[in-house]
Amino acid sequence: MPNIKEKLKEKIEAWRPRTTKLVKEYGNVKIGEVTIGQAIGGMRGVKCLATDISYLDPFEGIRFRGYTIPECLEKLPKAPGSEMPYVEGHVYLLLTGDIPTEDEVIELVEEFKKRKHVPQYVFDMLRAMPRDTHPMTMFSAAILAMQRESVFVKEYNAGIGKMDMWDPTYEDAMNMLAKLPAIGAYIFRMKYRGDTIIPAHPELDMGGNFAHMMGIDKPYDDVARLYFILHSDHESGNVSAHTGHLIASALSDVYYSISGMINGLAGPLHGLANQEVLRWIQGVMDQMGGKIPTEEEMKKFVWDTLNSGQVVPGFGHAVLRKTDPRYQAQREFCLKHLPDDPIFKYVDVLYKVVPPILEEQGKAKNPWPNVDAQSGVIQWYYGITEYDFYTVLFGIGRAIGVLSNIIWDRALGYPIERPKSLTTAMLEEIAGI
Ligand SMILES: CC(C)(COP(=O)(O)OP(=O)(O)OC[C@H]1O[C@@H](n2cnc3c(N)ncnc32)[C@H](O)[C@@H]1OP(=O)(O)O)[C@@H](O)C(=O)NCCC(=O)NCCS
Repeated sequence: MPNIKEKLKEKIEAWRPRTTKLVKEYGNVKIGEVTIGQAIGGMRGVKCLATDISYLDPFEGIRFRGYTIPECLEKLPKAPGSEMPYVEGHVYLLLTGDIPTEDEVIELVEEFKKRKHVPQYVFDMLRAMPRDTHPMTMFSAAILAMQRESVFVKEYNAGIGKMDMWDPTYEDAMNMLAKLPAIGAYIFRMKYRGDTIIPAHPELDMGGNFAHMMGIDKPYDDVARLYFILHSDHESGNVSAHTGHLIASALSDVYYSISGMINGLAGPLHGLANQEVLRWIQGVMDQMGGKIPTEEEMKKFVWDTLNSGQVVPGFGHAVLRKTDPRYQAQREFCLKHLPDDPIFKYVDVLYKVVPPILEEQGKAKNPWPNVDAQSGVIQWYYGITEYDFYTVLFGIGRAIGVLSNIIWDRALGYPIERPKSLTTAMLEEIAGI
């Protein structure tokens, strides 16, 4: 058994009594109350999920297993000659809660290499789809198509016990994670690079191999590493993470769950916002004839967007109440590697202009930029101008967090999810109307 699985087993066994104690002895302790506004308003702020993979503080931003983004980027082992950590090390951290040693990461890199072969029928299916199909539809379909590979389903059908279910779930999760970068790169090269597929490199780590299969030179390997790490998890209540968790709670295998979570990520209010940001900026650039707008000119574009009833993509957040540290991390990368890029300059003007306007408009609870405001800029700079593809990159990263959550859901025996609904008449009665 590889070190990581052994370690995971130990961690799971040590953790289980904590969850059992909470449920058995303290199950009736209240952690909040739910209002009519929350029941109708997307359950915002209702504390009804438990996860240890990450925690999102509204003012501090995300902590992965207790570590902030700068701490993760500093502490996780780095691939030789790279600025950014191995994605595999981040997988290790999310799964076990520990920062891995160099050797532990290398072992995981090797583990993924053994699992990375994508069955040919997946590519055949992608090729049979109309080429103008959205890449997120292709990505979701490719994941779903692999459902027949599920180890969990085989073991479930053979009668595996509830407390052992995390083990085949782990196997499915690792098999899937190892394949996702190759599937993403295949869709990209097939759709946008004249169907010139680049096979995987036998020696490279996940980030390095992704850059290789995309056909983009250094430092795109570091861009991929940064991108997958930053997008991996954002607590479990966001649409993609929650969808994955919800589907898995029915004991659907991770192929069903992750395909579903990708569909949630494909919404413009969630993951697709990164594509929307670039589309919006391109619209501004077209109108400006490529010139960087002044702050006054940019303000007009922002107000025009708001007055036409649209949201400003890349700004606002359901939980965060400050600038997203994922935005900051990418901004620092841009300042170092592409300070003079015109789109980066646009984004910089937006950073100055949008928050005061959203405050003046008085609707958005958080006027500050989120991860999506910055991420497309980097991709564009390194040649991925087909912004339809950006959410696939988000999806590869997000799968790391959602899969880690699902493994732990199974390990801790979380039951099927089933909140209760009320009718409008019942709410009116409760309200005394
Ligand atoms: C992320 C988002 C969906 C969160 O939604 P939320 O939790 O409902 O946010 P709020 O509670 O602040 O929303 C209150 C109001 O402000 C509006 N608002 C929030 N962010 C806004 C933005 N960036 N531009 C314009 N209006 C915005 C909402 O649409 C809502 O309007 P309504 O009352 O007319 O329905 C929202 O901020 C948004 O649409 N942002 C743009 C899309 C985006 O960047 N998504 C990626 C998030 S990581």
